[in-house]
Amino acid sequence: MERLLKKLSSILEDKFEKHGYDKRYGMVTVSNRPELCQFQCNGALAAAKQYKKAPIQIANQIVEELKDVEEFEKVEAVNPGFINITLKDSFIVKYLSDMSEDKKLGCSEAENPLTIVVDYGGANVAKPLHVGHLRAAIIGESIKRISRFLGHNVIGDVHLGDWGLQIGMVISEVKRRNPELPYFDDNFTGEYPAEAPFTIDELEEIYPAASKLAKSDEAAMEEARKATFELQNGKTGYIALWKHILAVSVADLKKNYSKLNVEFDLWKGESDSQKYIGDMVKSLKEQGYTYESEGALVIDVAKEDDSYTVPPFILLKSDGATLYSTTDLATILERVKEYDPDQIIYVVDKRQGLHFEQVFRCAYKTKIAPEKLKLDFIGFGTMNGKDGKPFKTREGGVMRLQDLIKMIKDNVREKLKDSDSMDEAEREEIARIVGLAALKYGDLSNQITKDYVFDLDKFASFEGNTGPYIQYTVVRIKSILNKCQDLINKEELKLINPCSGVERDLMLKLSSFNEVVEKSFIDRTPNKICEYLYDTANLLNRFYHDNRIISEENQEKKVSWIKLISITKAVLETGLELLGLEVPERM
Ligand code: ARG
Repeated sequence: MERLLKKLSSILEDKFEKHGYDKRYGMVTVSNRPELCQFQCNGALAAAKQYKKAPIQIANQIVEELKDVEEFEKVEAVNPGFINITLKDSFIVKYLSDMSEDKKLGCSEAENPLTIVVDYGGANVAKPLHVGHLRAAIIGESIKRISRFLGHNVIGDVHLGDWGLQIGMVISEVKRRNPELPYFDDNFTGEYPAEAPFTIDELEEIYPAASKLAKSDEAAMEEARKATFELQNGKTGYIALWKHILAVSVADLKKNYSKLNVEFDLWKGESDSQKYIGDMVKSLKEQGYTYESEGALVIDVAKEDDSYTVPPFILLKSDGATLYSTTDLATILERVKEYDPDQIIYVVDKRQGLHFEQVFRCAYKTKIAPEKLKLDFIGFGTMNGKDGKPFKTREGGVMRLQDLIKMIKDNVREKLKDSDSMDEAEREEIARIVGLAALKYGDLSNQITKDYVFDLDKFASFEGNTGPYIQYTVVRIKSILNKCQDLINKEELKLINPCSGVERDLMLKLSSFNEVVEKSFIDRTPNKICEYLYDTANLLNRFYHDNRIISEENQEKKVSWIKLISITKAVLETGLELLGLEVPERM
């Protein structure tokens, strides 16, 4: 469906054009003075400068043309040159009815669907998931869902950190503990065991122990580096061991991500780009992009007009080892070959901004990224504790994701305690769904780039701008609809003109759903969807407060109200789904 603002704009654009003005001045926006009008156009003010006329003169000219537009209830020119527009109720009702028939609630599917890779997990193999990975997962999942909803071909990739020093650390630690294992016997020619020599619990103990040792013991660090290097150069025993580390770790990661309701299409990682690296380096050398600097092989990516220093991109270290930058460049090559994407969106901690700036520049410069490919870095801020420092456990350690999820779930379960007849299993399920909403909405309602404070009580509250509040509003609607089931089965639900200001405001709000979704796709702003859902829920609750839907005697009114809250429910549920949240049956 055509967005309302687009439709209104094109009506005004025509009139501007007819009078010899640039048509872009006809742009219509939602009014910022809702007590005066619903929509406004400020184009006359801007056009006045270009055409050297009084703004009000232009506004009057345009308004004169708009008098007969059938959708408009009222249109007027107001000093110094605003054009104020109010729509006919019948038109709003028609728009909303059409929207309710549409399976995407008025959102248009892309005419030319893009292929978009969203790189958003970033978990590191052999290390537990911690809160640092939370934002990537939550934000990336939402961006993926929004893009897919609008008809794009979206591929979500977890892009595991599965090829770095942490693997070398684990390998050398396992060797220290069990030197007799065949992985460490250079003369071993048989088949390596099918079963991993450690469980996930052991693995999670092995890595921190190894990392601690390497920090204080230079020799241990050297061993870890050497193991990493040998692994990356294909030493068979290490590859076999690495496969075990990967399998054990990924099984656990899958469990954890699914607890977050986050699902990846691809479980690829840094290691998958390995097979492209040799040829890539060779070709970049041959094409003359590289030079040696302090032993390393680098590519210049600075530009003349840079306002900050962008150091050269490092392709290989002096010992020939590959780096994070190497695998990211090769991964672009891999993705171009395998998926030919139009966009790759990276949802990563904003502190990695410079890294991606270098990678992107290098990719374009070397034509590894074709011109049509848009590389887009979405850097998120940190989740802080109340002390303003990155969120920690009470003991000051790094909080594990599963512990954080449990903490929130416990908080919500407490709140559910005194409510009626729920059995244990139902309470658990509701606490899970609501707890997750508290966590995710608490994150997504912030601007992505900003740091925010994790405030459990605030996020899990059933009131205010929170996930549980929106869920609660949906649950409330469900309960009213249940009570009106007979009527719903009997009557064809038809909207009539609004009977009050709040009702009209709710209708207008619902009509702008496509506006919000399409804009948050373009701007990558799930927080705008949160804001919209909150406004909508508030209007619904005000409407509900003012009207006795269930006991309303006027049948036409009652039917229309039922329809209106059903549409509200659909919009809220769809919006929540785009954020990656579910709604319980009751709460
Ligand atoms: N594994 C990285 C980390 O934990 C994040 C990976 C982000 N994606 C990428 N293509 N570099 O910091």
